[in-house]
Amino acid sequence: MAQKTEDSAVEKHIPFIIKEEGKVTVKVGENTAHPMEERHYIEWIELQVDGKSYYRFLKPGDKPEVVFCVAGDEMIAREYCNVHGLWKS
Ligand SMILES: [Fe+2]
Repeated sequence: MAQKTEDSAVEKHIPFIIKEEGKVTVKVGENTAHPMEERHYIEWIELQVDGKSYYRFLKPGDKPEVVFCVAGDEMIAREYCNVHGLWKS
């Protein structure tokens, strides 16, 4: 499946990683949160840490961000929008 990494639309899809002591937050939309509506929402967010994948599944009404209690060096985030597909940080 194609993974997009650039977003020209107003609505933002690139997952944004915030590393803090003992936890990592992944937000969809750095400044503007992606919609979480019945017909258009982020189905899941994945965080890859040093080769291991951690997933959180979301539903409409949730915030488009998740907190993972993990630590590591190499981190990549991906998310899946039910309308706009797969995106990678
Ligand atoms: Fe979308």
